[in-house]
Amino acid sequence: MQAMTDLDEIRQTLEKTMMPHELEEAMPLIEEIQRLKREKNAVVLGHNYMTPAVFYGCSDFIGDSLGLARKAADTEADIILFNGVHFMAETASILNPDKKVLIADPEAGCSLAESITGADVRAMKAQYPGVPVVTYVNCSAEVKAETDICCTSANALKVIESLPDDTILFLPDAYLAKNMQLQTKKKLIPYEKGKCMVHEQYTGEDIAYFRKQFDDLLVIAHPECDTDVTQASDFSGSTSQMEGFIARSSNKNVLLVTECSMADNLRSVFPDRMFVGTCHTCPHMKKITLRKVRDALLFEQFEVRVPEDIRVRAVKSVERMIAIG
Ligand code: 13P
Ligand code: SF4
Repeated sequence: MQAMTDLDEIRQTLEKTMMPHELEEAMPLIEEIQRLKREKNAVVLGHNYMTPAVFYGCSDFIGDSLGLARKAADTEADIILFNGVHFMAETASILNPDKKVLIADPEAGCSLAESITGADVRAMKAQYPGVPVVTYVNCSAEVKAETDICCTSANALKVIESLPDDTILFLPDAYLAKNMQLQTKKKLIPYEKGKCMVHEQYTGEDIAYFRKQFDDLLVIAHPECDTDVTQASDFSGSTSQMEGFIARSSNKNVLLVTECSMADNLRSVFPDRMFVGTCHTCPHMKKITLRKVRDALLFEQFEVRVPEDIRVRAVKSVERMIAIG
């Protein structure tokens, strides 16, 4: 989705979610970031888990990891700054070896991506010879290079069903695998060690507790949660699919079972809804701050590059993913 670049419009949006003193501190940085983007022909991609100031103040395009990967594949810009986590910038770099791809903090990782290496995938392939590998995009380039096709939570089921095989290695998110297993007749072989440190904290009891507090509660959970959570929810999908589901519903009270910034960002999209309950923060996503975004554009840091021998093997699995809606 295209984001706003007009400063008055950005201010009006942020006024709905930020305290006045925070906004006054943020606006000069936002102005500088918007100027640097124009001067350097840079495109800024903002994941739904960025804080409102980074999300609305800096982005040219906003969305979930699949939507932003598509934007990265499309762009004519010289520089791509990915405001998200490292694997997202790495995916943009896999698709654009001739462009400068930046991340504002190279330490912005992901517990899922860190749970698995290329050697782990090779070991699983040796254990299950001939079984195709579907890998959640939250993984390193080295893992993507061992993969037949990547997926995100937006298209995981379609990717699974697109393969002719009845048995599939589905890595590395064990809970996404469990959620998909409930929806497909194929046999998915999971990688038990992969969990999202944010979504694994939610339980079905949390949802039962909040349902008791609110009669008309709409519960929407990310499929990186365990199945007791997704089964107790009204909808489960990618971060952008969550927004779409809220738009199609009329409930006043909404519980988003996902990272905290999601509700902060949606408050200005749905001013008539109440985002209730609790949330957990992703420490990796929160490493991306306005000041670091400004420095990333100013000093053209920190560049994300993938060795060419790995990139050429990884790009096929990413392009196959992008082709599936
Ligand atoms: P989406 O693909 O739904 O945006 O999710 C990415 C992510 O990291 C969720 O934790
Ligand atoms: Fe990774 Fe979870 Fe953070 Fe998403 S929320 S980037 S899956 S640790």
